[in-house]
Order: sequence, then structure tokens, then C-alpha cells
Amino acid sequence: MRELKILAVVVFFSVLTYWGVEPFAHSQMHKHVEGGNFEYKTMPKPVDGNVSKGKELVTANCIACHSITSQGVAAPMDAVTASASYGVNPPDLSNAGTIFASNYLAAFIADPAKASNVAHKFPEGSGKVHPMPAYGMMMPAEDIASIVSYLKSIAKKELTPKEVFVDACGRCHAARYDGKVLGEKWTQIGQKPKFKYEKESLAFDIQVLDYQTNLNKYMGKLPPDLSMILRARSENFLETFIENPQTQLAGTAMPAVGLTGESYEKVVQHLQNIGDPSKPERDSMGIWFLLYSVIFAVFAILWKRSVWKKLH
Ligand code: HEC
Ligand code: HEC
Repeated sequence: MRELKILAVVVFFSVLTYWGVEPFAHSQMHKHVEGGNFEYKTMPKPVDGNVSKGKELVTANCIACHSITSQGVAAPMDAVTASASYGVNPPDLSNAGTIFASNYLAAFIADPAKASNVAHKFPEGSGKVHPMPAYGMMMPAEDIASIVSYLKSIAKKELTPKEVFVDACGRCHAARYDGKVLGEKWTQIGQKPKFKYEKESLAFDIQVLDYQTNLNKYMGKLPPDLSMILRARSENFLETFIENPQTQLAGTAMPAVGLTGESYEKVVQHLQNIGDPSKPERDSMGIWFLLYSVIFAVFAILWKRSVWKKLH
């Protein structure tokens, strides 16, 4: 009976620490920010636009800077040259209609600095302007709605986690563990393959460094490698930071990206795949370990009883 009481006390305090004290301490150390579920409520939903009008407008305006590879539109310049002109390589637009929320997309095309919450980096009179033009000054809202409708009409509906990461984050963030063999990794200018010759590998690295120099100048700092970020930051931090970076780091250079909730899940999945590929396996191990502990405890108690019985 006595050992059962001791067991009960031990179990009680373990459970209290695990579910009570630790989460409480955690919540005190990391502030909890209410997210907006990736709905961007302040941005109005665009009306249904005219797809063929949208195609004309995109051809006349957007492909001067953006590639649309699914439509056979190549990038007007390579990533490093683009970063010298714009600070960053404009993302491919093939799947923008699926990756970004429609109301955010319309607001971004109308005024990129305002929608992505980095207007503070381009104050009036400073001579600095966002590298992408604010089309709200040049065309009516119906035209912007048509552009959004066109982008939605050409976008694949189902994207892989990596496809979302590349178009939404990949122009700014590297991921050095994203590779199947040593030497491969994601860089801001694309996937670095495993090269046969050291000379080719170095030539690639020099391009990455040139790009990073331009990016650093544009952002004011080099965005961090995201391979291990899931270990460093909580789910709540990531969710609210990616939805609106200013809520967590006031004055940060990272723009809001305008993902849909689904795209956000995909990005997290990708970060999980590269940073911790064995997590699903470990999670499923957890329950077996608990079961093992319980069975072990029962046997330990039975064994102790039988030993003591003989002694009395
Ligand atoms: C003069 C070059 C230029 C033109 C023209 C241009 N863009 Fe961009 N666009 C950029 C740059 C540069 C970025 C990346 C900015 C950044 O990440 O800070 C960008 C980013 C974007 C993004 C990503 C938004 C996000 O939240 O990540 C979308 C979508 C986009 N542009 C759509 C368009 C559309 C649609 C048009 C045509 C109506 C267009 N762009 C015209 C330069 C341009
Ligand atoms: C236009 C460039 C740009 C894009 C696009 C971008 N980021 Fe960032 N990101 C930055 C910069 C700059 C920082 C550094 C911010 C700082 O320290 O103020 C940053 C920081 C971060 C951090 C670290 C925050 C911290 O301090 O722990 C995370 C996480 C992050 N970004 C995730 C993402 C994800 C996920 C995406 C795509 C959905 C993305 N970023 C898209 C520029 C970008």
C-alpha cells in the first residue's frame, strides 16, 4: 500500500510539472499574440474579374519583372541581376493565385508597401520607394480584380510544401539542410545542386554571395537561414509572425507575405521536412514509450511484493 501511495505522489507531481508548470512558464516567457487566421480582414475581397482582361494586363505590366514559367514566360533577367535592380528577385507568378489570399493579392498589387506592412521603410520624401509599382495609382480596382482572377485561373490548386516555400519565402531565406545529398541546399538564387567540380561549386557560391549582398542592402540585414527555425520558435510565434511580422518584431524588415491558411500549413510542413525529417517517427514512438513505462511499473510493483512476501 505504501509504495502505491509513493507512486501516486510521484505521478501527481510529474503530471503537474508536465501539463501545469511548464506550459505556464512557457506562456510567461513567450508572449501570446492573437492571429487573424490569415484572413486579412482589413483588406476587401476583390470582385470577380475578367480573366482575359487580366491576362492582357499581366502581359503588359507584370512580366517586365516576374517570370510565369507555367505559361512559358521566362524571367527577364537572372536572379543576381534582378537583385541588383530591385534588391530581391521578384517571385515567379505561376502559382501566386493559390499561394496568396485573393484580398491580400489585390491589396498588394494596389500598394505593395502598405499591404505587406513595410511602408515605414519607404517614408515620403526619403526618395526610397518599394521596387514594385503601386498599381492602385494607375488602374481602377476592377482591373486589379481581373489580374487576381487571371492569376487564380492559371495557378495549380494543389502545391507541394516546397513549391509554396520557394515562391513565398525562397527569394529571401536560404535553407542549408534542404538537400538529399551533401552539397545540395536551397539558396536565395535557387537549389544548389551537387557539382562534380569544386570550381563549379565555388562559382555558384559567388553568385549566392553577390545576391546576398544586394538583399542585405535592400532589407538592412540578411534574412536568417530557416532550416532549424521550428526548433527555435513556437508555433504561435511562427503563425503570427508570418501573418504579420510587425506583431512580434516591431520595426522588422520582413514584409507580411499574405499566405492563405493552407499555404502557411504547407510552409510549416516544408520546414519540418528539412529541419526534422524523423519527427513523425518519433511522435509515434512516444505512445509506445508511455505504454512500456506503465507495464514496467506494474511488473516492478508485483516483483517487489513477491520478494517482500517471502521475507515476512
Ligand atoms: C518593376 C518590377 C515589378 C513589376 C513591374 C511588378 N512587380 Fe511584383 N514584385 C516585384 C518585386 C521586386 C517583388 C518582391 C518585393 C519584396 O519581396 O520585397 C514583387 C513581389 C510580388 C509578389 C509577392 C507578394 C508577396 O507578398 O510575397 C506578387 C504576388 C507580385 N509581385 C505580383 C505582381 C503583379 C501581379 C504585377 C503586375 C500587375 C507585378 N507584380 C509587377 C517587382 C515587380
Ligand atoms: C522580402 C524578404 C523576405 C521574405 C519574402 C520572407 N522573409 Fe522572413 N525574414 C526576412 C528578414 C529581413 C528577416 C529578419 C527580420 C529581423 O530580424 O528583423 C526575416 C526573418 C524571418 C524569421 C525569423 C524571425 C525570428 O527572429 O525568429 C522567420 C521565422 C521568417 N523570416 C520566416 C519566413 C517565412 C516562413 C517566409 C515565407 C512564408 C518568409 N520569412 C518570407 C525577410 C523575408
